[in-house]
Amino acid sequence: MPTQSSERWVDDGNNMVEMFEELGYETDLQYAEDVVENQLSQIENMITRGVDLLIIASIDGEALSDVLDQAERLDIPVIAYDRLIMNSEHVSYYATFDNFGVGELQGKYIEEQLGLADGKGPFNIELFAGSPDDNNAYFFWDGAMSILQPYIDNEQLVVRSGQTEFSQGATLRWSGSEAQERMDNLLSAHYSDVDIDAVYSPFDGISLGVISSLKAVGYGTDNKPLPIITGQDAERSSVRSIISGEQTQTIFKDTRLLAERAVNMAEALLKGEEPEVNDTETYDNNAKVVPAYLIEPASVDINNYQEVLIESGYYDESELN
Ligand code: GAL
Repeated sequence: MPTQSSERWVDDGNNMVEMFEELGYETDLQYAEDVVENQLSQIENMITRGVDLLIIASIDGEALSDVLDQAERLDIPVIAYDRLIMNSEHVSYYATFDNFGVGELQGKYIEEQLGLADGKGPFNIELFAGSPDDNNAYFFWDGAMSILQPYIDNEQLVVRSGQTEFSQGATLRWSGSEAQERMDNLLSAHYSDVDIDAVYSPFDGISLGVISSLKAVGYGTDNKPLPIITGQDAERSSVRSIISGEQTQTIFKDTRLLAERAVNMAEALLKGEEPEVNDTETYDNNAKVVPAYLIEPASVDINNYQEVLIESGYYDESELN
């Protein structure tokens, strides 16, 4: 797993360990704390110790080709977990969510909240993208822009900074503090005399960084309400933020279902069977199209978090206080 600094990966890892152990497997769960070299040596050590299978949520999707060659030589299957591993033929299967769909849900949320389809506007918006070394970041961005771009083109949405390209909004390693710094700069350069109405953020960690920046210049009061701010992962800290009226929306991706998918794929592979997939077209990693299983994401805000996150048993109410 990439890092423990985002709680979703902790949940992902724990869920898989629990499910594998119930089936009688031994597991070795390691976190690389967003350092690519750590992840490479963790994988190399696992290969040396003779593991039967690897499940990897990569940090840099383009950095694993050599180590996957080693796995291939020893016939160790590799499952890409949530993030696609690029430039290697030795990615056996991919368990993830409908990543373009995630971006669409985020974009549609902004569209609905601002009444863009009814012709309302112009509104001021700024755009954040995820980490450029994570293939998912492009899918989220493309999904969101499939909804938002027409409104930028007809000027119902105005990006005062002019930063409308993925590369301009990209946030290395999905870092909340980097996003906060960029937001500080955007606010002081472009919003000293006018308010911002919406921020497209692809990930909860980025959203919270953006909110800190906004609050530091006085947003979050009756006279100066926070803009609409999207997110992703329904992390506890962001759900708390939604409950307290700060972050507006997030995307719930049930890590229990993702872990279950990856575990089922692993079991099938280890038994010499074919894992179930539902997508054999979308995820070209530049070496092959990796057969994938995509799970449906869900949009969450103040109006449905109870039902989607608590009544489903994903969180206990007490975790969100
Ligand atoms: C992506 C993942 C998102 C989010 C982000 C930052 O790869 O699909 O759900 O977790 O990384 O960790």
